[in-house]
Amino acid sequence: MRLDKFFTQTGTLTRSQCAKAAKTGAITVDGIIIRDASVNIDPDKNVIAYNGEAISYSEFVYIMMNKPLGYVCSNDEPGELLVFDLLDEKNKRKDVFTVGRLDKATSGLIIITDDGKSAHAALSPKHHVEKTYVYTLAEPLSEQDRIKLENGIELKDGYTTKPCKIIPTGEKSGKIILSEGKYHQIRRMFAAVSNKVETLERISFGDIQLDNSLSYGQWRSLTDEEISKFKK
Ligand code: URA
Repeated sequence: MRLDKFFTQTGTLTRSQCAKAAKTGAITVDGIIIRDASVNIDPDKNVIAYNGEAISYSEFVYIMMNKPLGYVCSNDEPGELLVFDLLDEKNKRKDVFTVGRLDKATSGLIIITDDGKSAHAALSPKHHVEKTYVYTLAEPLSEQDRIKLENGIELKDGYTTKPCKIIPTGEKSGKIILSEGKYHQIRRMFAAVSNKVETLERISFGDIQLDNSLSYGQWRSLTDEEISKFKK
């Protein structure tokens, strides 16, 4: 990859800024000053630094966001607030999408990436990636209904859900762990036992937990450890 492409891809410098920076000697490759921005480098092997600071490189973007209520997980829905509006310009410019969707009325962990292959694998029913949600309900959940839901329940459209796990934390609250993600699934599951979801928040996706330090609408890049968990 060309050195200037590396700088534009990492969002550090534009192509012309990179050419200028190189001329002034602000760019090093493995500690050696490089004045020609068109040289080829290998971002996986070489250490590229700008003003003495190493620039980390990842081919793809991986972001965790604490989705606020009222936002939609869509790239284009006129009149709606989009989760992508909350990103900075650099990430907005990439071909990012959310890994699965949360409803407008659901908050919590969403992963945003431009790595289609890993996202596809993470969503594939074959891989049974578990997602944990915290719910509150309008009515108390009976033990009988909890068991029905855990074993799999027929939804209005005739689909029978896969077994799941429900851990009540109160009569009307708890955690539900699903390994599938049909449209409005949790709301429709509780509706199937004549109940109603009042609030829903996702707190984990596979082995990745929602970072509690992120308030609604905040986001950060996944750590290297989280990226490997996502790709696992
Ligand atoms: N199930 C739902 O009903 N809504 C979500 O946003 C996620 C899972």
